[in-house]
Amino acid sequence: MDIFEARMNELYELVKHHAGLYYDEDSPEISDAEYDALVRELRQLEADYPQYSRKDSPTQTVGGSASELLAKVEHSTPMLSLDNVFTPDELVNFFSRSDSEGFVCEMKIDGLAVSLIYEDGIFVRGATRGNGRVGEDVTENLMLVDAVPETLNDAPAGRVEVRGEVLMTWERFNAVNAAREAKGEKLFANPRNAAAGTLRQSAKNNHVIAERGLDIFLYYLVDAEKFGVTTQSGALSWLAEHGLPVQTAYKVCDDIESVNEFVEKWHEERYNLGYVTDGVVVKVNDLTRWPEIGATSHAPRWAVAYKYPPEEARTRITDIIISVGRTGVLTPVAILEPVRLAGTQVSRAGLHNADDIARKDIRKGDIVNVRKAAEIIPEVVSVDKEARTGGEEVFAMPERCPACDSEIVRLPHEAAYRCPNRASCPAQLAESLKYFASRDGMNIKGIGKSLAKHLTASGKIHKLSDIYTLTLEDFVEALSKDKVRTKSAQNILAELEASKSRTLANLITALGITEVGKNTAELLTEHFGNIDALMNASEEELAVIEGVGEVTARSVHEFFRNDDNRAMIEDFRAMGFRMGEIKAVSSDGRLAGKTFVFTGALEAMTRDEAGDRVKALGGHVSSSVSKKTDYVVAGDKAGSKLKKAESLDVRILTESEFYALLETQE
Ligand code: IVH
Repeated sequence: MDIFEARMNELYELVKHHAGLYYDEDSPEISDAEYDALVRELRQLEADYPQYSRKDSPTQTVGGSASELLAKVEHSTPMLSLDNVFTPDELVNFFSRSDSEGFVCEMKIDGLAVSLIYEDGIFVRGATRGNGRVGEDVTENLMLVDAVPETLNDAPAGRVEVRGEVLMTWERFNAVNAAREAKGEKLFANPRNAAAGTLRQSAKNNHVIAERGLDIFLYYLVDAEKFGVTTQSGALSWLAEHGLPVQTAYKVCDDIESVNEFVEKWHEERYNLGYVTDGVVVKVNDLTRWPEIGATSHAPRWAVAYKYPPEEARTRITDIIISVGRTGVLTPVAILEPVRLAGTQVSRAGLHNADDIARKDIRKGDIVNVRKAAEIIPEVVSVDKEARTGGEEVFAMPERCPACDSEIVRLPHEAAYRCPNRASCPAQLAESLKYFASRDGMNIKGIGKSLAKHLTASGKIHKLSDIYTLTLEDFVEALSKDKVRTKSAQNILAELEASKSRTLANLITALGITEVGKNTAELLTEHFGNIDALMNASEEELAVIEGVGEVTARSVHEFFRNDDNRAMIEDFRAMGFRMGEIKAVSSDGRLAGKTFVFTGALEAMTRDEAGDRVKALGGHVSSSVSKKTDYVVAGDKAGSKLKKAESLDVRILTESEFYALLETQE
């Protein structure tokens, strides 16, 4: 690898990493300018060295405008937040000073506040709330949201600013997470995160934004009086008449009493709305009085959020079972008598760990209160000890693994109990396989949790490398049991084949060694250069690597001391996986002397990866077709190079013919 290719590889990772922090986690570690500089450098290198460009380059997905990140916009009127009240008394108290009579009650949507601007009835700008004064420009993204009208009915002349909430319905949320699961991607914790993550994507990812199917409800007309609107209920009608989506669940209430009735009525009914709400927003209806009632620096005095308490339900624990995770950690899970909670039927609750169970004295048979916080899985908050009958059973961690019967260990420095049978515990294997196939690992699309379970349950997989020995029939059979069924068996086989050329760092990540994620795997690859040096490194040698601590060093050392793990590495080696940072070009390889040209987009791997496979077998990759070219591999939308190959009578391969050729040559 020359220095340009190395730098490009580094930039691919850096840009992806920082874009992820910015867009998905809302926690950037570098300034916008520093990020832009990285993207610019990568774009320049891609232009200068197209042969090293990758189809999955982040430059294909991140924005290309003035800033690579979302541009900042200042709100003409600040976007305020709301104060909260929790009881009828607090509500009365809140409005006591404003001396108001008529109110409007609306559901409080748990989404992402946005401002939309229309000029002469045409949507021209959308922004997030940001810090209330400065938000982010998400115009292009909102244009991809069907629920946001491009034009207003009865186009009002001049500028109209409306505000509301972008959200994802439960239905879309479940579909999006199911698809992410099948691809081995991290799940969104709740619909709000999913909506925010989607809207703050770079607009270059437009298919993602459009497919996710966001929704929006508007609830605020800025400078309403300009349009002859003098009440909040009038504003809601105005918005609806002009074609903007408005919630149907709202009501004009003459006094606080009827506000309380509304709050009561919707406490349960809100679960039928299909989207997440966490309270009622109570607003003074007469908006001509809003300026006089005023606002604090962050919230108005003419509106307040009446928040519902976090949802709790009472039910019985019928059993406490143990789930075994990827690294063998045992997690107790309470099986509940099914109960309705926050709009869904729940039958399981998380119990964290044994110490937590002991502290709360949770027993099998207990009547408990379960709560759903922001996450989807409920937790046990308290036990009704008065309701005990004496038949309850005190919980004890099992001494043997429920999946493989190995003796459970508890390491002195950990709270967790573990099944030590990393090599063949079927529960760990299913989780490990899912992780192996995940994006940071071997990136094998189509192997999600449920397929991984079916595959390990079939008894055909005893170690990770066995996945590569399965046949088309094995996958057809496992898929027939899999309710998710996103990919065909054929596609999965192609994905597996393609995964063999992932980097050594991918393979090390995919092994799922405790404490070794993607970053550590990269550090190790960089330091040792090949798997053999890593496998034979002493614990001391590992511990002194910058960024690798003692705990990680011990874990890596232990992993490679295990004979089963070493044997598995040999399986991968025999299958042609990369065992070095860059696989050495073997001059006696079976493609020695053959020149390949790739054109068009390949399905199963990037052109870069395909090129590496050729090089690994001693072949040569060129970017232009000539008489000396032996093969042109034509992917999707192949253009002039394909024509040239035809005219020169060069052998043309389809993508699958190319893989077949690699197979026979390997
Ligand atoms: S009115 C001046 N109405 O709740 C503030 N806000 O916790 C005007 N929200 O930032 C806001 N549903 O994003 C209003 N029906 C609704 C709402 C609503 C959700 C959000 C809004 C606000 C946050 C405050």
